[in-house]
Amino acid sequence: MSIASPPPIRQLIPESAPFTPEQRTWLNGFFAGLVLLEDAAITPLSPAESAALMPTGPAVAKGPLDDGDDDEAPWHDQTLPLAERMTLAQGRPLRRRMMAAMAQQDCGQCGYNCQDYSNALVLRTEERLNLCVPGGKETARMLKTLYSEIDVAPRAPATVATPLAASAPSVEPGRSRDRPVLATFLSRTRLNKRGSEKETWHVEFDLADAGLDYTVGDSFGIFPSNDPTLAEAVIEALAAPADFPIGGRALRDVLIEGVALGPAPDMLFQLFSYVTGGDRRQKAKALAAGDDPDGDAASLDVLAAIEKFRGVRPDPEAFIEALDPLQPRLYSIASSPKVDPQRLALTVDAVRYPRNGRTRLGVASTFFADRVTPGQKLPVYVQPAQHFHLPADPSVPIIMIGPGTGVAPFRAFLHERMATKASGRNWLFFGHQHSNYDFFYEDELAGMKAARVLTRLTLAWSRDAEHKIYVQDRMREVGRDLWAWLAEGARIYVCGDAKRMAKDVERALVDVVAAHGVRSTDEAIAFVADLKKKGRYHQDVY
Ligand SMILES: Cc1cc2nc3c(=O)[nH]c(=O)nc-3n(C[C@H](O)[C@H](O)[C@H](O)COP(=O)(O)OP(=O)(O)OC[C@H]3O[C@@H](n4cnc5c(N)ncnc54)[C@H](O)[C@@H]3O)c2cc1C
Ligand SMILES: NC(=O)c1ccc[n+]([C@@H]2O[C@H](COP(=O)([O-])OP(=O)(O)OC[C@H]3O[C@@H](n4cnc5c(N)ncnc54)[C@H](OP(=O)(O)O)[C@@H]3O)[C@@H](O)[C@H]2O)c1
Repeated sequence: MSIASPPPIRQLIPESAPFTPEQRTWLNGFFAGLVLLEDAAITPLSPAESAALMPTGPAVAKGPLDDGDDDEAPWHDQTLPLAERMTLAQGRPLRRRMMAAMAQQDCGQCGYNCQDYSNALVLRTEERLNLCVPGGKETARMLKTLYSEIDVAPRAPATVATPLAASAPSVEPGRSRDRPVLATFLSRTRLNKRGSEKETWHVEFDLADAGLDYTVGDSFGIFPSNDPTLAEAVIEALAAPADFPIGGRALRDVLIEGVALGPAPDMLFQLFSYVTGGDRRQKAKALAAGDDPDGDAASLDVLAAIEKFRGVRPDPEAFIEALDPLQPRLYSIASSPKVDPQRLALTVDAVRYPRNGRTRLGVASTFFADRVTPGQKLPVYVQPAQHFHLPADPSVPIIMIGPGTGVAPFRAFLHERMATKASGRNWLFFGHQHSNYDFFYEDELAGMKAARVLTRLTLAWSRDAEHKIYVQDRMREVGRDLWAWLAEGARIYVCGDAKRMAKDVERALVDVVAAHGVRSTDEAIAFVADLKKKGRYHQDVY
């Protein structure tokens, strides 16, 4: 049987158009596809015609994502700082470097995972560069620099990288930031006792009207609003009327509910550079470019930025446009639907810190701690975990390492394993500052230990003694047993601080494997890497 040769691709892009031969070939293929799709509405394409449209073979140049770079992404590690991630991605295609600029949490807060977000930016199906909450301003700035490399090629079809929400069948309400549902805030209870330096809250929601379900390991997305006092201080500093109309809403309302008042975005300094002169203009331009002329850039939230350029009077609408949108925040779910499908719990550490004479407030955490009232309905969604799940086999032993708020998903795991009468053994490493004040869920954990659901509880109090004791110190102390659990097929889960704890815990695990698995350090590193590959080592760190 002979195979008919495919028809040549139509030349739709004139030779005189300002494209390289490769770009022209790709664009011809792309537009030919669109034209033929229209034709196909009348006459179906033959297989040969369809084949001719596929961007394969030497005749058709590659699309922006077909750059042959599907290798592992060594920068895909949320514990690495941005500079290190960018170094690892050096020389890779733009979409890969854009991926390296993301915080690598695959948390879904932006509506994508890290790879899909960067692909969507390269394909220009997504234009917002400031969606990566964990990456913050650093990521947004790097993306802005990289974005300038995107050439003038027209938008590609929007089918390759769509937000998780739009691409998955799970586009149901309450499954992404784009389709939140209303849930009722029930209560907050302080988890630290009097005398603690921390302020952590057990928060509960009623899901009865939300029609939401979830799995342990998932996170809960919430849309906070800003502290009204801060919004009012901004209005006063701008000397603008609080009821100035912006898109049909009052300036005050937009400042409370619509925009981020945290780190001042580059756009704001750019705006200031337009409405101020002389030395101040140069400073504003420098800040907009990411420089730090006075050594205070890191401390400039929106209010501090206005105060720095005291007397600037931008148009309130232009001011709002220069700010970033207020983003949702994610919290690890600390309850199991197997215990009560309608009641969902979180463990939230309130972020408050002094800076230049003012207490700065974390938006969402203090929204829970101070501003939301029981009975209030809030827009929320469930962000399904990608890998942070209990083993499907209930007999598999699990080791959970979760200091501070990192205990949240492990409370959920333990509740679930208790409710389902899972036979697998459970070992929790918990740690915090003081045993007297910061022992979250102490009674519950004692109850689960008595009920033999919690097989083993190992505690590390960092500020009870002269020397700090952290969970990783305890891991080394009980390394022999840890190795025995691993050898019996246990899975390891780590939750909490990404910047320091997660790295230190991994290092401790390598030491344990080397010491008790009798391996060289290199072999132990490879062993731990293999645990990750095999889905036996999971991190949910932030
Ligand atoms: C998947 C996932 C799960 C999470 N689970 C939990 C959880 O279970 N519990 C929990 O509490 N959080 C959790 N977080 C973190 C949470 O989403 C928020 O980031 C956190 O509550 C802070 O948000 P915020 O709006 O209160 O603070 P923001 O307004 O976002 O402010 C936080 C920023 O303030 C700055 N900052 C904070 N402290 C200081 C300081 N001492 N000095 C100087 N600057 C400082 C930092 O720049 C920080 O990024 C999770 C995050 C992710 C991605
Ligand atoms: N994005 C945000 O703004 C935000 C909001 C909430 C929490 N977080 C972060 O999320 C993490 C959890 O916060 P949290 O309040 O639950 O508790 P935390 O600050 O992580 O503290 C929990 C315990 O971990 C200890 N610890 C500190 N460094 C460690 C290390 N390298 N290895 C192991 N343990 C270490 C602490 O000890 P010492 O304190 O005595 O050193 C404390 O005993 C923190 O990193 C926190 O900064 C971030």
